[in-house]
Amino acid sequence: MNPPPRTLSGKRILLIVAGGIAAYKSLDLIRRLRERGSSVRCVLTAAAKEFVTPLSVATLSRDKVYSDLFDLTAENEIGHIRLARDCDLVVVAPATADLIAKMATGLAGDLATTILLATDKPILLAPAMNHVMWAHDATRKNMATLAARKVTSIGPASGELAEGEIGAGRMSEPLDIVAAIERHFNSNAPLAGKRALVTSGPTHEPIDPVRYIANRSSGKQGHAIAAALAALGAETILVSGPTNLTAPAGVKLREIESAQQMLAACVEALPADIAVCAAAVADWRPATLGNSKLKKDGGAAPTLALTENPDILATLSKHAQRPGLVVGFAAETDDLIRHATEKRLRKGCDWIVANDVSLGTNVFGGDANTVHVIDKAGVESWERQSKEDVAHRLALRIAAYFNKAA
Ligand code: PMT
Repeated sequence: MNPPPRTLSGKRILLIVAGGIAAYKSLDLIRRLRERGSSVRCVLTAAAKEFVTPLSVATLSRDKVYSDLFDLTAENEIGHIRLARDCDLVVVAPATADLIAKMATGLAGDLATTILLATDKPILLAPAMNHVMWAHDATRKNMATLAARKVTSIGPASGELAEGEIGAGRMSEPLDIVAAIERHFNSNAPLAGKRALVTSGPTHEPIDPVRYIANRSSGKQGHAIAAALAALGAETILVSGPTNLTAPAGVKLREIESAQQMLAACVEALPADIAVCAAAVADWRPATLGNSKLKKDGGAAPTLALTENPDILATLSKHAQRPGLVVGFAAETDDLIRHATEKRLRKGCDWIVANDVSLGTNVFGGDANTVHVIDKAGVESWERQSKEDVAHRLALRIAAYFNKAA
């Protein structure tokens, strides 16, 4: 597998690990951050050392680990004030209820809290605790106090907690924390603060447990669009049918198989500011799903009764939580502009990107595309270019649309 792109190259992160069971996930977080080019200097609270060892943290971060406010050697080498300032971002993961309360109050009784009080750098928290503690009035007030001081946070996620109870309190997954960090460093980007939903790839419509109806979409165009929107700072969710591609950097991937699953994943991803539907969704699916494999019995070939699939683009275009900009694609083999223009009106999207997919164009599965962007103002035809370049130009057009509207 290819290493992830170095989206955090040169960034200096100070990671404070507090004492909670989720501390084990911070080891993976260190690895993910370093893979993306960032340096990670770590501070462990006394309680954190009950959950992860300084040796494993030092090995993964390839740096000294700091934990004692009165460590003469550490003070001599760097000093806690420089430790608090020699970074671009302070991340606290996991941030326990206790540490959050100390931060809100301004306590500075140990190295971690002293750094949090002394730093002049932005702080990102990844809270983790029991769901009752998270919902407690005291924690809510502490979080509100910190938010008013421009401390940002990600999570916690909902699910089964370490003690077996279910609720909101799980620390966000390391890759989600990485994505929040990437967004932080991208906050001046043209689509910062926007949420984008992109569909990509084919859908597979099952006939029986081993067969399905599908098409030739590779996902290259849709994935490139998700990557381009994320690179411009949008928080991007990519809902994709089966492909051989990996998730682009900083993009949340939701993998589905059928059109019905794609629709459910898209609706679940709302609200969004932008939707781009580049997937080649099967228009029909088998009316019934056989529980066992269809058998050849020497008789007549079976006939397949089909039923129409829901239209995801049309559903998003008329949804109560309709994204501010809905962009469809039109794959046509004849009379491209006329059919695509009709499709835009019929499906209710703002723009439609028409591409000629007739035999020989190699658009399905290939690396290049020739597109025409149709909106209410008319048709803009782009020269043939790589799918990455189409994606980048489309993302810039989307950014310009929002900047004009602002
Ligand atoms: O994946 P690649 O190999 O890179 O190829 C890229 C592509 C050719 C698949 C892509 O550029 C493209 O044209 N995607 C749309 C393909 C398609 O299904 O076109 P359509 O004209 O049938 O559908 C029109 C629009 O409605 C599309 O935005 C489609 O996503 C959407 N649709 C269609 C049917 C359906 N049930 N639900 C939908 O949302």
